[in-house]
Amino acid sequence: MTLIERVQFTGAAAKALGDAVRTNTAAGIRARRHARRSRIEAETTNYDPLDPATAAQPHEAYHRLHAGGRVHYNPKRNLWILSRLDDVRAAARDDKALSSADGVTRTKFALPILITTDGEKHARMRRQVLPAFTKAALESWRPLIDRLAAQMVGEVLGTPGCDVVQRLAVPMPVRLIAHLLGVPDTDVDDFRRWSEASVQVTDLALTPRGARKLASSLSGSWSINRYFRRQFAAGVLKGSDTILGRLLAENEAGSLSDDELFYFAMLLLLAGNETTTNLLGGMFDTLARDPDSYHRIRGDRSLIPMAIEEQLRYSSPVQNLYRTARRDYAVGDVTIPAGARVLLSFGAANRDPRVFDSPDVYRVDRNPSQHIAFGFGAHLCLGAQLTRMEAQAVLHELVTRASRIALVGETRWSTNSSLRGPAQLRVNLTPA
Ligand code: HEM
Repeated sequence: MTLIERVQFTGAAAKALGDAVRTNTAAGIRARRHARRSRIEAETTNYDPLDPATAAQPHEAYHRLHAGGRVHYNPKRNLWILSRLDDVRAAARDDKALSSADGVTRTKFALPILITTDGEKHARMRRQVLPAFTKAALESWRPLIDRLAAQMVGEVLGTPGCDVVQRLAVPMPVRLIAHLLGVPDTDVDDFRRWSEASVQVTDLALTPRGARKLASSLSGSWSINRYFRRQFAAGVLKGSDTILGRLLAENEAGSLSDDELFYFAMLLLLAGNETTTNLLGGMFDTLARDPDSYHRIRGDRSLIPMAIEEQLRYSSPVQNLYRTARRDYAVGDVTIPAGARVLLSFGAANRDPRVFDSPDVYRVDRNPSQHIAFGFGAHLCLGAQLTRMEAQAVLHELVTRASRIALVGETRWSTNSSLRGPAQLRVNLTPA
């Protein structure tokens, strides 16, 4: 990395920190003043997605939101909250009024990546990376996914009482994405360490602990940056059956710079690892607590795709993401003021009792096609099919080789304010 690149890279990080501090600037104060007027119409709430205990177990709070009006306002966080499925979906679709450019997690954070880009620029970037996720590309990765699923379910089977999060739910997506990015087996452990460090950027707070997390995240991102630059320079990725290889092949005309390719690789790590970990961990927890559903799936494998969709609805690995109102935004009688930070609660929307019967019950045959676990609109998840393939492969392997999943002790849930899943989950699998 040249000195200039280094400065640009740390410059982006410094800007992120600066932006986090600047939540109290003139625009923020104006929005707060306006909020005082508009919240006469919105219901105030003490639901706080940043409270660790609530983040770990948010469902009681969702009941209260659903029992109230369409828009809630949390004065402590100066945050506007949408929780009904129709409203969250409409908000995700209206990317002209509700922008992602200030970052989609709590910390305002603007990097030149797809997920935090709006409008025409976003559409152009998305067109550039779509060739990496064609149906043919996905099919070509299936044997690798099946192999990883078989290997990891085998390890859990062979280690009674192990933590399935550490044994399977964390390494499965990291190893898959490492392969898809062209990282050879010998480098996968380094890569896993760096990517675990770098993803901490999604849950930063302005505290000493937050500063330590940011430092660790930057150092992880830096190592990945150095790694990919070496790979690009060596030319080993070109022509390979990897995401970056496909993009390099499409990119003969040079429309994507090394920087853009690097940022895309980082986005896949940020967006694809912890989310899939949460889905896989959540699935073990659900099926261990619901042996009847597990037996039904064992008896009828055609239920597997629906079981995964219901798991996505039920545990919503991404519980919420943020937007910034570019202009006044009306939801029913309430006007959310320009400048406001707005929380789209996918987790609450996926348990909206107006849409889903008995939403707190996992029903293996529900077919919840309306769920929005992968978002909605322009930013709809690019990795949705890949994730489905991963989760389906693991579940297929599981029902084939284990007759029962038993929890050993209580599941500990993560306290990340946006991404939710088991942090520790010990299981015993009974061999079939
Ligand atoms: C259970 C697993 C996953 C869940 C629940 C999930 C959820 C989401 C959600 C809710 C969004 C919308 C963001 C927004 O509206 O601001 C999103 C976007 C995205 N996801 Fe996923 N995701 C998962 C797995 C993955 C994987 C495995 C990858 C890639 C390998 C991935 C790549 C992306 C990308 C690149 C975007 C940004 C799309 C854009 O801005 O146009 N995701 N995801």
